[in-house]
Amino acid sequence: MDINTIKIEIDSISKNIIVEITGINSTQSLEELQLKYLGRKGKIAQLTGAIPTLPLPERGALGCQINALKNKVASLIEKKQKSITTKPPETAKFIYDIGLPAIVQELGQLHPITKIIDEICAIFNQMGFSVIEGPEIETEHNNFTGLNIPLEHPSREAFDTFYLKLASEPVNQLANEQANRQTGKLLLRSHTSPVQIRVMKSQEPPLAVIVPGRVYRPDAVDASHSFMFHQIEGFIVDENIRFSDLKGILEAFAKAIFGKDIKMRFRPHFFPFTEPSVEVDISCIICEPVSRLASEPVKGCKPANCPVCHGKRWLEILGSGMIHPNVFKNVGYDFKKYTGFAFGMGVERIAMLKYGINDIRLFFENDLRFLKQF
Ligand code: PHE
Repeated sequence: MDINTIKIEIDSISKNIIVEITGINSTQSLEELQLKYLGRKGKIAQLTGAIPTLPLPERGALGCQINALKNKVASLIEKKQKSITTKPPETAKFIYDIGLPAIVQELGQLHPITKIIDEICAIFNQMGFSVIEGPEIETEHNNFTGLNIPLEHPSREAFDTFYLKLASEPVNQLANEQANRQTGKLLLRSHTSPVQIRVMKSQEPPLAVIVPGRVYRPDAVDASHSFMFHQIEGFIVDENIRFSDLKGILEAFAKAIFGKDIKMRFRPHFFPFTEPSVEVDISCIICEPVSRLASEPVKGCKPANCPVCHGKRWLEILGSGMIHPNVFKNVGYDFKKYTGFAFGMGVERIAMLKYGINDIRLFFENDLRFLKQF
């Protein structure tokens, strides 16, 4: 290479590098460009290699020019390298639109009936009861006969019942069970008491059991009736269980759920499966200034016009009694050795009293405006 060629080459590299580098947008093509100019056999190395062939006086000045060119190319490549690696991807500006409204995930929550059932079961659990569930389809025996409610006895009317039509051949487990026991028809249980029979037939005392579940009665639906609702049954069987045990346990329960100042009263009643039987009332949580919910009487609510107790000042919350010896006989227990008590409460009723709800249908309409309040 003679001097002129070298000078022209320096000039053209100096111009071309700017054009070439602008068109580059990937690390790979930048590396190729670097190799082309700054590599060991690259264009600038060729120029440097030609210097010793030049006449001595020219070497210094041209060497300086080539060095300057080399620095220029290196610095352009370095700049480009930085801009390629820090440049955000093309789509980024669409992803980070901070003006977009946020997507709020709505949290689900438990149904108020589920919450009350959990709360009631937890209270009894703490007192040593275990939770057991039974089937909603029951035999006539467990729902009635085993509980000392004989066929044709007028007390069956109090537990009006949905009977199930059965295929003539026993096709499922329950139908087989029914056939085996020769207990007659199957039905939708009208209370949770049949689980007493199931548990006592399969386990020996001592027993302390709580049974939450759905029950069915062919009632016309109105503000206080539903053809399906929930009950919680409880019972204890052991030697020396007395009526005072029943009173103590139920009072502890009522205080835990309605507040420690609540008062209780036991009224004589009749159930075929308990003797003696009682209905249990609590002092009205609206017009008596004693409950957790209403630490003061509701304004303007005098007992006489209280919308909840209608002036009676007492609210019925459950039925209970000492388990009838006939029930023990029916399950094969020694009724001279064992005594026990049982109780049953309507879950919707407890929830309505606790939260001041005046229509049972609200629980089943699935209106989120109602359900979200609990
Ligand atoms: N099973 C009764 C009912 O549904 C309630 C109850 C249960 C009463 C246990 C006494 C003992 O009305």
